Amino acid sequence: MTQPVTYERDGRIGLIRIDNGPVNALSHAVRIGIVSALDAFEQDAAADIAIVHGAGRLFIGGADITEFGKPPQDPWLPEVIDRIEACPKPVIAALHGAALGGGLEVALGCHYRLAMPGTKLGLPEVTLGLIPGAGGTQRTPRLTGLAKAMEMVSSGTPVSPEDALACGLIDRIGAGALVAEAKAYATDLLEQGAPARPVSAMPRPAPDAEASAAIRSRLARTAKGLVSPLAAVEAVEAACDTDLRDGLAIERQKFREMMETPQREGLIHAFFTERRVAHLPEIAGVAPRPVARVGVIGGGTMGAGIATAALLRGLSVTLIERDAAAAAKARDTIGGNLAAAVKRGKLSEAMRDTALSQALTTAISYDALSDVDLVIEAVFEDMSVKKKVFAELDRVCKPGAVLATNTSYLDINEIAASISRPQDVVGLHFFSPAHVMKLLEVVVADKTAPEVTATAFALAKTLGKVAVRAGVCDGFIGNRILSHYRAAADRMVLAGASPFQIDAALTDFGFAMGPYAVADLAGLDIGFLTRQRKAATRDPQDVVPVWADALYHLGRLGQKTGRGYYIYEGRQGTPDPEVDRLIAEARADAGITPRSFDKAEIVRRYMAAMVNEAARVVDEGIAQRPLDVDVTLLSGYGFPRHRGGPMKWADMQGLESLLADIEGFAQEDPFFWHPAPLLMRLVAQNRTFDSLNAG
Ligand code: COA
Ligand code: NAD
Repeated sequence: MTQPVTYERDGRIGLIRIDNGPVNALSHAVRIGIVSALDAFEQDAAADIAIVHGAGRLFIGGADITEFGKPPQDPWLPEVIDRIEACPKPVIAALHGAALGGGLEVALGCHYRLAMPGTKLGLPEVTLGLIPGAGGTQRTPRLTGLAKAMEMVSSGTPVSPEDALACGLIDRIGAGALVAEAKAYATDLLEQGAPARPVSAMPRPAPDAEASAAIRSRLARTAKGLVSPLAAVEAVEAACDTDLRDGLAIERQKFREMMETPQREGLIHAFFTERRVAHLPEIAGVAPRPVARVGVIGGGTMGAGIATAALLRGLSVTLIERDAAAAAKARDTIGGNLAAAVKRGKLSEAMRDTALSQALTTAISYDALSDVDLVIEAVFEDMSVKKKVFAELDRVCKPGAVLATNTSYLDINEIAASISRPQDVVGLHFFSPAHVMKLLEVVVADKTAPEVTATAFALAKTLGKVAVRAGVCDGFIGNRILSHYRAAADRMVLAGASPFQIDAALTDFGFAMGPYAVADLAGLDIGFLTRQRKAATRDPQDVVPVWADALYHLGRLGQKTGRGYYIYEGRQGTPDPEVDRLIAEARADAGITPRSFDKAEIVRRYMAAMVNEAARVVDEGIAQRPLDVDVTLLSGYGFPRHRGGPMKWADMQGLESLLADIEGFAQEDPFFWHPAPLLMRLVAQNRTFDSLNAG
């Protein structure tokens, strides 16, 4: 096996190279390797200065997250960093790509830091429910001052080399080739007679009461319910009153506490599942078809958003609308979306101009699609309209073009069967707004070719989306589960809970928004039309939220009309007593005496409905693994990331108690509640959902 860390010398300069692809994570072998390389450097009388650098595309991506939760193995990272810092001869960290978490902490243990342009320097541990555990909270403020260090550790957001130079985190920005630049810096330092310069010997940061108060008030808004950001701030503040050794002990203590939290477990689950979601045996080794030119049919809410997403990532787009006026309107919407991206610094003005003048074409005739590599249809949700569109695509598109539909509910097998090339048809279910939302459900129909699935996953990567594989059913993974937990919420409303109480209980749980605020955002017409569509096949025992139909008939369609469940002045709604009155009428009509619900019961019922339906979705193969459900709900439905997703949440609660809840609910409402067979099997076998994620 090749060594993950090597030492060699060039003239008076020792070179310590870390090579542990893909991200040079600080595994046990790397930690041992760094210590031996330092030994070699110290004993090498001809070497007067050392450079630590990473092979491949980045310096070091962090501690090895796969080792978290396992017994620690010597040497620990803090010891390795102390060892670097204690080296009597100067050591330079030469950073490129990224120096994150433990990677930046290694750099802070070195005596001088050089970063190449574009390097991301950050302490992202809070995004994993942790705090820096190898000196990051103590050394950073000694270089940058308290305020900047508190900001870095509590947000987890990386800084640029320019920012890092300005705040004192690094000493120099290079240009050209990494190792050559680092050697030039080493030569300069040797000429200056620069000594070893440990950060631990630098003065403590000065307390800054104003910055401490400001960061707390920011966290109260942006990190509600999260424990690690505040712990990270407290550890940094400890640097003001302690020497490095005592500060490190405080940091370690807090790091250990964070390691034991369920939030850490949920966040790390989210991190790995988001990466594993694209590992699918059916597309392993299958080459995607190249996609440079994209067609979009329909320039309404979704079509304009999808076109924007493609243009933002440098693809060329041909958008087809029904007439010139609709095409012009779509162009305006896209122009507005791109202007907003320029404003947020996501796109340069020049790139925006090129996108609108060269990359985007709008047309009325389908013939404009003859050379596109992939088409996404986003016309009205109506099977006959979709089939007409696909017949046109079948006629004009070149052989091998991927033909995708953005349908939310329709049967993609039926669409595919209506044309001569069903193997090229796939569902690409974007979420609104399509240029913002991360989730993309890739709906694989019976005849979809593996290359087409692979192309869909590759496109998602190009667009910066998280793709999840789903099978064909009403609502695929996300909307199918959503309609079930929404129904559970409506049943609670009928029984006595108010929509506002339900929303409050779920935002307390950590959801970005409650289901009724979400309905107002999406538009109450969407739910109404879905109920209409399902009316013919609905079981008479099912609960119909007649109050929601009443809101629709009153023209209260949600945020877009200023009223829905809530009254809006701006985007923040206030509960409307009129809605309570409509619901009271519905209860009276149904002969129901309302009872009270507390927040805990609301969460239990809502989550039980979500997990129960999710278990069916997995059992039926609509989602291949529980992790596909977790990623869907995390990236498309505002599920709290620190809870890891509904299946992870269920595992952490214990499946047995969840099943007992569902069995209890089934006794009072046997129509709605049926324990999912998969849940029963897992409980009988004493297994978790996570045990199905392996492989
Ligand atoms: N430990 C172990 N494995 C890691 C890792 C870490 N710190 N960081 C990334 N990986 C793995 C990923 O799981 C992925 O594995 P896979 O190929 O089997 O799916 C692989 O390395 C590549 O990671 P990916 O995120 O796809 O690469 P990227 O180039 O998009 O991003 C990073 C690279 C380093 C920016 C990104 O991986 C990242 O943010 N890592 C975590 C950084 C962090 O939080 N560090 C703090 C820990 S103390
Ligand atoms: P929309 O009504 O805003 O837009 C549809 C557009 O398609 C209109 O601009 C219309 O002029 C155009 N159109 C209709 N027939 C056409 C044809 N034959 N050729 C060219 N253009 C045609 O609808 P939307 O909300 O953008 O939804 C489009 C699709 O996306 C639907 O299938 C819907 O179910 C799905 N979807 C919607 C959402 C959402 O939140 N709105 C989310 C995911 C998926």
